[in-house]
Amino acid sequence: MTENLIIFNARVVTPVGFSARRGREMGELCIMDNATVEVTDGIITYVGTNRGEERDGYYQHYWHYNARGKCLLPGFVDSHTHFVFGGERAEEFSWRLKGESYMSIMERGGGIASTVKATRDCNFIRLRGKAEGFLRQMSIMGVTTVEGKSGYGLDKETELLQLRVMRSLNHDEHKRVDIVSTFLGAHAVPPEYNGRTDDYVDFLIREVMPAVVQNRLAEFCDVFCEQGVFSVEQSRRLLAAAREMGLAPKLHADEIVPLGGAELAAELSAVSADHLLHASDAGIRAMADRGVVATLLPLTAFALKEPYARGREMIDAGCAVALATDLNPGSCFSGSIPLTFALACIYMKMSIEEAITALTLNGAAALNRAGSIGSIEVGKKGDFVVLNTDNYHFLPYYVGMNCVHTTVKEGVLYPVL
Ligand code: NIG
Ligand code: FE
Repeated sequence: MTENLIIFNARVVTPVGFSARRGREMGELCIMDNATVEVTDGIITYVGTNRGEERDGYYQHYWHYNARGKCLLPGFVDSHTHFVFGGERAEEFSWRLKGESYMSIMERGGGIASTVKATRDCNFIRLRGKAEGFLRQMSIMGVTTVEGKSGYGLDKETELLQLRVMRSLNHDEHKRVDIVSTFLGAHAVPPEYNGRTDDYVDFLIREVMPAVVQNRLAEFCDVFCEQGVFSVEQSRRLLAAAREMGLAPKLHADEIVPLGGAELAAELSAVSADHLLHASDAGIRAMADRGVVATLLPLTAFALKEPYARGREMIDAGCAVALATDLNPGSCFSGSIPLTFALACIYMKMSIEEAITALTLNGAAALNRAGSIGSIEVGKKGDFVVLNTDNYHFLPYYVGMNCVHTTVKEGVLYPVL
C-alpha cells in the first residue's frame, strides 16, 4: 500500500547519499528545521524548506501531518535477523546463566539443532503467524525494512518453507515492513549428516541453492563461518557457488573465535560481514579496503556476555558499519532497536550520529538497497520514523525505551504512541 503524504514543520535528521557512508562520513548527518517532506505514491518527491499549506489546493489529495516538536528520521533497516522459526529456547538461556557456553550447548545437540527440530515440526500457517507477530513489534520500534534468514530447516523442504513464509509476508498488501530474504542453509550441519560437513555443503550447492534461485526465494546467501561449524574453506566454496547462481554473499564472521571470516569477506567482496566480535586488525583493514559493510550486532554480545565488536576502531579504520539486532531464538532473543542504539553508543563508542547512519543508510547498503531506502532524499521510499521528541539524542539516552511516535511506510502513517 502506498499513499500521498505531506509532512510539515519537521526536524529532519538523515544521512545523505545513495551508497554506504564510510569512516568519518558516518557521523555527518543533514539536519533541517521547519522542513517539509512530500511523498507521492509512496516515493519522496520533495525535501526542503516548509511549503505547501499556502499552495492552494495543490495538496488536496495528500494526507497532512504536522510534525512540530518531533524528529523525522529514515525508517530503520534491521539488516540481520532470523525472525522465522519454530519454538523457543528459554531453558537454554537458563543454562547459559549457570555458566554453560553457547558453543558447548550446540556441541551436545542443543542450540540451533533444537530450533531446527521445532521448525521442521511447524507448518506454513504456524510459522507465518509467529513471524507476523515479530514484524508488528519491529514496526512499533521504527523498522521499515528487515532482513530475514532461513537456516532452521537444514533440509530442502523446510529451508524453502521458511523462505516462502517470508515471501508471503512480503506480498501482504498491508505489510508495515519490507522483507529481504537470505538463504542460510549453511547455519549448522543437520544431525542426519552426522558431522559430514563437506557432503552437506555439496547437498546445499547441488540441491537446495538451485531451488532457492529458481523460485526467486532469496537475494543473499549467508554462512555461519565458525570453528566447529563451517571452515573458511567450506564457506569460500559455498559462497563462490552462491555467487555463480546469483546470490550475493554475506557471512556470520568471527563471532566466537577469530577464524579469518573478515578476511574471507574482503577476499570475496561480500556485501557484509556480520558479528565480527573477534575480527583481526588485518581483517578490519581488508574490509575497509574492499568496501564490505561491517554489520555489528551488540544485542548478541550483550546476551552472550561476550566482548563487543570494535565498532570505534572499525569506523576509524574507514569501514562502513551497520547495526542490526540478530533477533533469533538462541544467541539473542531480542529485536530491540532502542537497546541496540544504547549499547552501540555506550559500549562500542559510536557517536549517536554514527549509530543513526548505521541503522539507516548503512543497513540499507548491507542489503544492496542504499539507492532506494536509508535516507530522506528525493527518489527514495517514503519510509520514516517520527520521534516523540525533537531531540534525536533520546535514541540511546532513553535506554531500552521506545521513543517512536509514528512509523511511516511508503507514505502510510502507523501511529505507535
Ligand atoms: O547470529 N551464530 C549463528 N547464528 C545465530 C544464532 C542462531 C541461534 O542460536 O539459533 C547468530 O548468533
Ligand atoms: Fe545471526
